[in-house]
Amino acid sequence: MKKLLRIGRGPVTQFALLSFFVTAATTAALVVVISYHFRQDLLEREWTFTAAYVKKEAHSNLSASHFLAPHTPEAQARFTTFYEDVILMPELVRLKIYDAQGVVIWSDEPRLVGQRFPDNEQLKGALAGRITVKGEIGERKGENVYEHNLSLVEVYVPIVFHDSRVVGVVEAYKSPDQVFARVRSIKIIVAATALLGASLLYIALVYIVRRSAIRIEQQQEALEYRSHQLAVANEELRGMQTQLIATERLAAIGEVVTAVAHGIRNPLANIRAAIQVALLHVPLESRSSAAHNLANVIQEVDRLEARVKELFQFVEPTKQRQLRLDLNAVVTGALQMIAGRLSSGDVKLVERLTPGLPPITGDAMLLQQAILNILENARDAVLPAGGAITVITDFESNGSHGVDKVFLDISDTGPGIPPDTLRKIFEPFFTTKPKGTGLGLALAKKFIEANDGAIKAGNAPDGGARFHVTFSTSRPA
Ligand SMILES: Nc1ncnc2c1ncn2[C@@H]1O[C@H](COP(=O)(O)OP(=O)(O)OP(=O)(O)O)[C@@H](O)[C@H]1O
Ligand SMILES: [Mg+2]
Repeated sequence: MKKLLRIGRGPVTQFALLSFFVTAATTAALVVVISYHFRQDLLEREWTFTAAYVKKEAHSNLSASHFLAPHTPEAQARFTTFYEDVILMPELVRLKIYDAQGVVIWSDEPRLVGQRFPDNEQLKGALAGRITVKGEIGERKGENVYEHNLSLVEVYVPIVFHDSRVVGVVEAYKSPDQVFARVRSIKIIVAATALLGASLLYIALVYIVRRSAIRIEQQQEALEYRSHQLAVANEELRGMQTQLIATERLAAIGEVVTAVAHGIRNPLANIRAAIQVALLHVPLESRSSAAHNLANVIQEVDRLEARVKELFQFVEPTKQRQLRLDLNAVVTGALQMIAGRLSSGDVKLVERLTPGLPPITGDAMLLQQAILNILENARDAVLPAGGAITVITDFESNGSHGVDKVFLDISDTGPGIPPDTLRKIFEPFFTTKPKGTGLGLALAKKFIEANDGAIKAGNAPDGGARFHVTFSTSRPA
């Protein structure tokens, strides 16, 4: 019902109004036309019947000679008898008899006898041989000056005997009250029927259109929903495709890396052991500089070993522990580590950690490594000219759904990320730094996603790079 009312506005209302006017106009026209035809039909039957009756009585009472010599006592007596027969007809109130020249030769209103009415069109028609009828008289003039009731109908009947010449005309005044009453009642019946039909038609039309409008709206909603679902599915598919390609590439890289790393690790271990042995054999007098050089080699071997370990970390499936973590604690740990690695005092660390974050689930070590990688990049970006790295944590409660979002935002005042770099920033081995491996952000992304998070890279409105990390957390119901 609510829906019916809601749909009621707009096109349906327009249709309702328009169809109301069209139906009303059609009904009115129909009533007028049908009533008019009924009325005409009824009157015609009535006058035809009157005329036939007058003719019949004229033929049985009168002859042509009475019209030629109307003022003889015999003729006048015949006219009176004729009148007495004709006046028996219901609603007949006056009779006039004209001769062939249109002069009144007899009437039950004696004052009319001897008069002629040259402007009477119906009389002229009757004299020419046609039965004519004049509707309600309406005005008092000429021949009607003696009538009290003007709502009369005049029927003119030409009188013809054997030689088909019009010898005279009989004019009968009829009081058509009954006929008109019937016409009126027919008009009412026609109007009522048409009104009822039109109302039913109107209601049915509006109902059908409203229902169709509701259906159309429902179908449109369903269609919109489907197209939305399709768009979502499409997006998912695209994501999966990209992931698949990335996974395939990673697998290929993984194989190469594993082979290379294995090939390097054993010789490295041998080199390290050999140098340690060599250190033992360095003569005491040359100890300081040679020992220093050998210690440097061991340091470099250790760095190589660390790099190889990093490579392994990248290609190995992430082994992680799922614990409830406070993101602020993880971030603080990473910040302490980076603070220890900041040699210059020109880099300022700004912490804005919102207290009371909902706990997230994940592996603290992996997350700390990921955050550290982002912070290291920020440090690299800011170091040359000095500046600040800002770290913000916050959360957003999604009311009744029991899901919160926890954010981590790391931005810096460095030069920012050019669009070309931004496109490839998370690809493994993509780097713009002479000594970079290009694994820092690839690993960060891998670790964050392994902890059900997401990372986005972009630029802050005032220039520097900005990394936005989101975690979804489910609250216990
Ligand atoms: N904060 C930043 N500002 C500007 N550019 C950045 C920032 N962080 C990353 N980049 C760009 O993204 C590239 C990839 O970063 P990533 O950490 O993956 O590798 P890397 O830093 O080059 O090498 P690695 O981390 O192994 O030392 C960087 O070389 C740099 O061009
Ligand atoms: Mg890096």
